[in-house]
Amino acid sequence: MEKTPSETSSVNLPAPFFPPSLAQQNPPRILPPQFKFPSLPQESAQSTVDTQDIGSADGWIPRDPRLVRLTGKHPFNAEAKLRDLYGAGFFTPSNLFYVRNHGAVPLVDQDRADKWELSIHGLCAKPTTLTLKDLRTKFQVVTIPVTLVCAGNRRKEQNIVQQSLGFNWGAGGLSTALFTGVYLSEVLEHVHPTKPAKHVIFEGSDKLPNGPYGTSQLLSWARDKGKAMLLSWAMNGLPLEPDHGFPLRLVVPGQIGGRSVKWLRRIEISVMESQHHLHFHDNKVLPMPIGPERARAEKDWWYDPRYIIRELSPNSAIARPDHNEVLDPSEMPPDATYQLKGYAYAGGGRRVSRVEISWDDGDSWNIAKITYPEDLFRDVAYSDSVYGRLDLTESDLCFCWCFWTFDMSIDTLRGSDAVMVRCMDESLALQPCDMYWNATGMMNNWWFRVRICQIG
Ligand code: MTE
Repeated sequence: MEKTPSETSSVNLPAPFFPPSLAQQNPPRILPPQFKFPSLPQESAQSTVDTQDIGSADGWIPRDPRLVRLTGKHPFNAEAKLRDLYGAGFFTPSNLFYVRNHGAVPLVDQDRADKWELSIHGLCAKPTTLTLKDLRTKFQVVTIPVTLVCAGNRRKEQNIVQQSLGFNWGAGGLSTALFTGVYLSEVLEHVHPTKPAKHVIFEGSDKLPNGPYGTSQLLSWARDKGKAMLLSWAMNGLPLEPDHGFPLRLVVPGQIGGRSVKWLRRIEISVMESQHHLHFHDNKVLPMPIGPERARAEKDWWYDPRYIIRELSPNSAIARPDHNEVLDPSEMPPDATYQLKGYAYAGGGRRVSRVEISWDDGDSWNIAKITYPEDLFRDVAYSDSVYGRLDLTESDLCFCWCFWTFDMSIDTLRGSDAVMVRCMDESLALQPCDMYWNATGMMNNWWFRVRICQIG
């Protein structure tokens, strides 16, 4: 039988960590005035406990009901509806930040967070164990805005064509926050990697059936400060919430969210890439002919290094009109315009260089207006006790989503069957017309379409 949080509390557990809601906090002080974090009602907090969650933090975590569960009760995987996510603006409040957990959330005593230990070992001259306090006090503290995107974002469209191995994500499997921490590159220099090291392996502390979650980065990328990988303990000026890796996570800007290991416990410098189960069996785009059955039966496909996903590819979505939105014709004089809105992003630090809209099935395209709120942080360094240095000046790369708008005449909208969007990044990579269906249903970035049904 399902347990309620109060039943679970009778089990002798350490004190849970309840992060204060953003609403209870003073607005962060050093943000440019354009930015406001929406405050969220406390009464929206909910908790659902599965028997598999007993002894974990899951039963304790207040979760916003606007985060829609995608996988039943366990583990917690959720996204906000696109209208809520988009409506929240550039920064996603932690309550609406998408969650991708492969298992139960480790229970960590908030009072002992400073003593959380990160072991760094392997091919390096100075293997060490650093506490969270060491990280905070021995290295430069920085804050940067980063959009995390799950490789499964928009998988639902692939599952409609043919069920993949993964569960449905709408277009809300992404979120943006200010992440505070220290540069991974500086911590690596501190331990002096030695030859013939090639990879840096990261391991979380979640207990999964095939061992902890782990994955790796190329050492040359991890040492590149411009790529801005962070060992991070705070999100939007507050300690990470348990769902997002409290007390410490890796944040890898520009790459799929699966590389940003949560509840980070161990870093190993190695000649080999990570040997963790999910490093091989997740976050891969296998060739299209390898359907779920072959992927299950023929294990070698998973170990082919060519199919790993690192950087995000260009992608975009329409937030307005929403699917199933009803437009009231009485509010629309024929000469009026309707503003289409949405988001776009690219990977590897590349910018989106154009967003285009079509309403004739891709025969012709129209240029949308792009805004990059992230640019407000560029070349400006602030200093603050909460954020350390709020600073993008170490990097010329672009790590966040952008927004686009397009004013369409109501008459044209009335005469259309569908509107669609595509974007291109500065390497001239363009979203494809056709879906690249694959067994894991990942990296779905074909043109995003919203059907228009004319009523009456
Ligand atoms: N780290 C650990 N330890 N365990 C996990 O299940 N999920 C990964 C990554 N890091 C995961 C993890 C995946 S697949 C994604 S998309 C991101 O975390 C999601 O981060 P978020 O839940 O903070 O949005």
